[in-house]
Amino acid sequence: MRKFTFLSLMMVLAVVCIFACTPSTSSSTDARENKSTKQSKEPVTRALAAAYSPFFSFGVAVNRNHVTQEDNPGANIVQQHFSVLTAENDMKWESIQPSEKRFTFKGSDALVSFAEKYDKELIGHVFVWHQQTPDWVFEDEEGNFVSREVLLQRMRDHIFTLAGRYENAIKGWDVVNEALNEDGSLRKSKWQQIIGDDFIEKAFEYAAEAAPNAALYYNDYNLFKAEKMDGAIALAKRLKAKGIRIDGIGIQAHYSNEPPLEELEQSIQKVINAGFKIMITELDLTVLKFPDEDKVGADITLDFAFQEEYDPYKNGISEASHQKLATAYIDLFRLFLKYHEHIDRVTLWGVSDKDTWRNYWPMKGRTDYPLLFDRKHQAKDFVDDLIALAESANKIN
Ligand code: GLA
Repeated sequence: MRKFTFLSLMMVLAVVCIFACTPSTSSSTDARENKSTKQSKEPVTRALAAAYSPFFSFGVAVNRNHVTQEDNPGANIVQQHFSVLTAENDMKWESIQPSEKRFTFKGSDALVSFAEKYDKELIGHVFVWHQQTPDWVFEDEEGNFVSREVLLQRMRDHIFTLAGRYENAIKGWDVVNEALNEDGSLRKSKWQQIIGDDFIEKAFEYAAEAAPNAALYYNDYNLFKAEKMDGAIALAKRLKAKGIRIDGIGIQAHYSNEPPLEELEQSIQKVINAGFKIMITELDLTVLKFPDEDKVGADITLDFAFQEEYDPYKNGISEASHQKLATAYIDLFRLFLKYHEHIDRVTLWGVSDKDTWRNYWPMKGRTDYPLLFDRKHQAKDFVDDLIALAESANKIN
């Protein structure tokens, strides 16, 4: 028994030494795995957006509390680290036009003022989507589907009203969101059922007319999957062949801390070969297991019943999982830097772990850690590494 205890003690000492004795360097993954702190000891004073500005713009999705500065620490992070903002919810159809012709611009106006005040660019998200769009859009007074003409008119009015109001404020619009199935075929959404397959063309036509100075994007999740990206590229090429403007493909990038690096790189290469710009539009990396691996993605209707086993880090993330997250972020940004000439922007989907949608999707009530700033608004330790990565790439360039 005594022998066993002594052996155990030696093993513990050896493990402690691995963490404490190895010098850390910001460029080596192995060394990073040995860091024991999860937050930067000093506040990060250099800014992510500034470091990455030679390569692409660095954005974030903001919520109402950032914009009103009720979440003051969150708003400070936005001001310091990000140069381009997307409204997490405030420009979606249900927020802008909850009932017919009743437009509510409170949240979006506040965002535009915030962006002006702090000199940030803005991305408009989103004109046409099958989610977070109220039923009235597709229905008549009896609750039956409206005609193609009526729905096209509603789409046109919505796009023109929104794009017109923010004509000088918005740099680019997500025109259509998530119109594809996982195999790259067209989703049978209400838009598709009522208008037909050309609803996407119509949305881009209207957007090009209403927002002549803004870039226009098709945006979707799981575009690392070859079939789905093939579908997105085919769609973009169809538009282009018809003379309809589309400027880029938005890759949402809701991944885990084991992101699909190789597949993503192949997808990026395909977009480049097809001649479209790339935006990484909604980056976050969950550290939690997905309850059904076949459904990984960002289908917001998923709602699994809460189970303890899927919420292992409610009192703090494990070191191993945190290090996997750090490595995943570094690897992804290395990849983005490699293709920086074709990537216009990388946007994080949320400011801090405190208010990420990942805490309630696909299972409500979990404690997730997918972002760059923790629940106390502290930069995670690898934020410094991400900044150093861009700075050294800039020196080489
Ligand atoms: C999709 C949408 C976003 C957002 C996320 C989850 O990716 O494009 O607007 O709703 O789901 O928050």
